[in-house]
Amino acid sequence: MSEQIQASIAPRVRIAHTPTPIEPMSNLSIALGGPKLFVKRDDCTGLATGGNKVRQLEYYIGQAVASDADTIVITGAVQSNFVRQAAAAARKFNMDCHVQLEDRVPYYDDSYHGSGNVLLNRLLGATIHKFSDGKNEAAADTNLEAIASNLRNKGHKPYIIHLGIDYPPWGGLGYVDAGREIMAQADCMDIHFDYIVVASGSGLTHAGLLAGLRASGTPIPVIGICVRRDSSTQNVRVKRRLQEIISLAGLPTDSSSVDDVQTDDTWLGASYGLLTDQIVEAIHLAAQTEGLILDPVYTGKVMAGLIGMVRRGDFNKRDKVLFVHTGGAPALFGYEMLHKADT
Ligand SMILES: Cc1ncc(COP(=O)(O)O)c(C=O)c1O
Repeated sequence: MSEQIQASIAPRVRIAHTPTPIEPMSNLSIALGGPKLFVKRDDCTGLATGGNKVRQLEYYIGQAVASDADTIVITGAVQSNFVRQAAAAARKFNMDCHVQLEDRVPYYDDSYHGSGNVLLNRLLGATIHKFSDGKNEAAADTNLEAIASNLRNKGHKPYIIHLGIDYPPWGGLGYVDAGREIMAQADCMDIHFDYIVVASGSGLTHAGLLAGLRASGTPIPVIGICVRRDSSTQNVRVKRRLQEIISLAGLPTDSSSVDDVQTDDTWLGASYGLLTDQIVEAIHLAAQTEGLILDPVYTGKVMAGLIGMVRRGDFNKRDKVLFVHTGGAPALFGYEMLHKADT
C-alpha cells in the first residue's frame, strides 16, 4: 500500500480528479445584473460524487496508510458529505469505515435519516453509529475515541478523523493545493479574479485556500460564508487554522496574514443545516440559470451569500468573482422538504 503514498510535505494519496474546471456563469451573471461570476467546480473531484473533502482526504488517508490503519473512524452530521467521502476513500484503500452520525439538525423525516448521504454510507458498507448530542464537538470526539478503542480491543488499527479544533488540520493542505491550482488556472485563462467566495465550516477549506493563494503571491480577498457559526466565532477559528496550516505546509509565516481572514454570517439562518428562503431561492436560481446543482447545507448557503452580496452592491460590474462549488449534492435527497418549499 505504501507505494500509493506520494512524497510530499505530509503523507498523501492521490484520489481527487484535479485540476477541477473553472467555468463562467454567464447566465447567472446576467440574471443578477452584477459582476462577472465564475465557478470553481470542486464538486467534480470524482470520488463518490466528489466535493471539497476529497482533496482533504488525500492527506487524512495518507496519514492512515502511513500508520498502517485498517479502519477509518469519522463523525459528522447525519447528512455529512465528509463522512460519505471518507467511507468511499476508505474502501478505495481497502479499509473499513465506522461513521458516527450526529443529530445536529432537527429534521426527523425518512428522507433526512435514510436517503442522500445516509443511503450512500450504507451502499459503501460503512458501520453507522448514532450520536444524539450533535451540538457538542468535544463529546462527539470523545465518543469517537470510544468507538476506536473498541475496535483496537478487537485487533483493528483505526485512524480517527477528529472533529474538534485541537487536532492537526491535515485536510487544509488539500486547499493549499487548490489555491495554487486556481492561480495557475487564472494565469492560463488570463483572468484576474477580484474576489473568491467559499463556504466556511470547519474552516479548513477557507483557511487552506487563503494560505495557498497567498503562497502563490496573490492578495485576492477570500470571503468565507458562515455555515455553522457566527462571524466573530468563525473568524477566530479560521485564523487559528490558517496559522496551523501555514506551519504544516512549511510555508513562510509571512506568506499569509491572519488579518486577511474575512467571514460573513448574514446568510447563516437559525443554525447549521436548516433551510432558509434564501437557500431555497439560490438552489433554484443556480439550477435554472446554469444547470448547476448546489446542496442545502453549504453551497446553497454560499450561493445565497453571493446573490445577497451582489444585491447589496458589494461588487462593481467589472469585478470577476469566483464561487467555489464544494459539492454536497447527495444531501439534496435528504432534504425532501426543499421540494415541498417549491410547490
Ligand atoms: C459540500 C461542502 N461544502 C463545504 C464544506 C465546508 O468545508 P470546511 O469544513 O472545510 O469548512 C463542507 C463540509 O463538510 C461540505 O460538505
